[in-house]
Amino acid sequence: MSSTPVLPDGWTLVALASVGSTNDEAARLADSGASEGTVVWAREQTGGRGRRGRRWASPVGNLYSSTIVRPTCSAQRTSELGFVAALAVADIVPAGRAVRLKWPNDVLVDGGKVAGILLESAVGQAGHVDHVVIGIGINVGFAPQLPEMRYPGAALGGTVEAALEKLTQAIATRLAEWRREGFETVRAAWLAKAGPLGLEVDVRLGEELVRGRFAGLDREGALLLETSAGPRKIVSGELLGRAA
Ligand code: BTN
Repeated sequence: MSSTPVLPDGWTLVALASVGSTNDEAARLADSGASEGTVVWAREQTGGRGRRGRRWASPVGNLYSSTIVRPTCSAQRTSELGFVAALAVADIVPAGRAVRLKWPNDVLVDGGKVAGILLESAVGQAGHVDHVVIGIGINVGFAPQLPEMRYPGAALGGTVEAALEKLTQAIATRLAEWRREGFETVRAAWLAKAGPLGLEVDVRLGEELVRGRFAGLDREGALLLETSAGPRKIVSGELLGRAA
């Protein structure tokens, strides 16, 4: 494998030895006019960010990349890109490993979290989406074990360069599918790799803990739960434990 990863036709690689956060660098480039398909990749991040203000441990040996997308959809629909990205990560998991998608955007392999996805959007006046940065961290060489982690980690194996090549190709393919066929196709593909319907799950909503049975995804990507108090739609929250 060459040390410079080859990206899909028309895509641009910005390769860095070290950066605070590839998402921040990608947002900066997008604000300066960088086109869709610009990918910021760093060997390490000194300030890697996760969802909910958490840090993302980013030493050399794993993959940290952020891809600029310029969708023409409404701001409300940009969260669909998190499902597109999760499917792209699932696509590059080697055959024979058990892959499961966990709402909203986590990817588990053999029961351990192998990747995290952080979407950040810039929305202009009148709700026009200027760009979305799809930040993806994948454990390639090893799975960091940190005290704050709720799940064991898992690692993909192989080289970071090979993972980036496969990932960018998978993102390009899944993005094209989303644009061509819409969220319904993405939703069906995501559900096929999620936990089984009826699985009991806990979801944290701020201070509230909601328990229910996994009942699918709605047309906007919200989590549907059957709780003892009736059906519930969760737009934003954190799935805990027996993960769907
Ligand atoms: C999560 O909390 O699960 C999301 C983690 C996202 C980490 C990636 S690594 C590349 C990009 N740059 C960042 O600072 N975060 C994302």
